Amino acid sequence: MSVTNAIRVKSPASLNTLTYSQLPDPGQPGPGEIRVRIRASSLNFHDFAVVTGMIPAADGRIPMSDGAGEVVAVGDGVTGFAVGDTALSLFFPEWIDGGPPSSAFRTVPGDGVDGYAREDVVLPTSWFTRIPKGYSAAEAATLTCAGLTAWRALFVDGVTKPGSTVLIQGSGGVSIFALQFAKAAGARVIATSSSGEKLDRLRDLGADELINYKEVAEWGKKALELTGGQGVDTVVEIGGAGTLDQSMQAARVGGHVALIGVLAGFAGPVQTGLLMGKNLRVQGLTVGSRMQQMDMIAGIEANGIKPVISDHFPLTGLADAFRHQAANKHFGKIVVDI
Ligand SMILES: NC(=O)c1ccc[n+]([C@@H]2O[C@H](COP(=O)([O-])OP(=O)(O)OC[C@H]3O[C@@H](n4cnc5c(N)ncnc54)[C@H](OP(=O)(O)O)[C@@H]3O)[C@@H](O)[C@H]2O)c1
Repeated sequence: MSVTNAIRVKSPASLNTLTYSQLPDPGQPGPGEIRVRIRASSLNFHDFAVVTGMIPAADGRIPMSDGAGEVVAVGDGVTGFAVGDTALSLFFPEWIDGGPPSSAFRTVPGDGVDGYAREDVVLPTSWFTRIPKGYSAAEAATLTCAGLTAWRALFVDGVTKPGSTVLIQGSGGVSIFALQFAKAAGARVIATSSSGEKLDRLRDLGADELINYKEVAEWGKKALELTGGQGVDTVVEIGGAGTLDQSMQAARVGGHVALIGVLAGFAGPVQTGLLMGKNLRVQGLTVGSRMQQMDMIAGIEANGIKPVISDHFPLTGLADAFRHQAANKHFGKIVVDI
């Protein structure tokens, strides 16, 4: 029997129970399907939550929402992909356009259905988009979750334009994409990090102002000062409960806080007076649609943006890749080569 290799989450989910397994080969694509030899994936906190059991997943689930690889066979009636193309996965394969779907996570790869920690998949063409021209599969595999989230925060939910001011928190995947996208749009970027060395690297990527959030507890007030008291237009909020207060301090009157992450807590008190008084818009978001992914790819191509890849791990080293992420040793994206 022909087989393909994958990593699976075994119950009870933990980094120690991630299992390298052989699965039956997925076979040839049917009508409207493509077979993709997955070449790379990349780590997101959402994947970490699945593999450690924070998000309950089915026993044996193949994790990882992000995947890119080579199209090796196409089924009848397929248009848009040919053998030899590189295809990029979608976080919400059934969200084509318009507002977010109510069935959100039902078909999210690596959560509701099997993801891309595996060598071969056969899936509908609609589950993939093309990749940016000139991108490798490893580079493309950074975009599905982190890239699209940053794009939506700035250009779908936010109105980022030349002269806007954007605040990013830390130097993870979402924040570095937000920095690159904001600079490409002509915005001014205030970057925060826990590390002086990482702040230097953020400056090299174009950050205009730098704040060490470990040394400056009231970094939101500092950001306000750095804008002459005006405040920032958009905060790319990846901390959540533990950072929202300072994000609201940093925002201008009528500003936008793109509420993306939970790295500093899932729940907590909110200064509702400040929220109201500053006429703030705190907008929760989960990644984006297929149309938004296509727009992001066009934006990346027009500006020659390349992802910042911190580290590469092999598929067999997926647990070590997550340990590396949890130890906060990365700067940008961690890629898994498959
Ligand atoms: N809603 C969505 O659709 C969506 C999509 C993608 C990600 N997310 C969420 O966004 C968050 C970030 O994701 P990611 O993929 O970018 O993660 P990541 O690459 O692992 O980023 C981690 C970085 O965040 C920074 N950080 C951690 N705690 C911080 C804090 N209290 N204040 C400021 N910065 C802090 C650190 O940067 P320094 O080392 O520089 O301090 C750390 O290296 C996660 O909670 C994730 O679940 C949500």
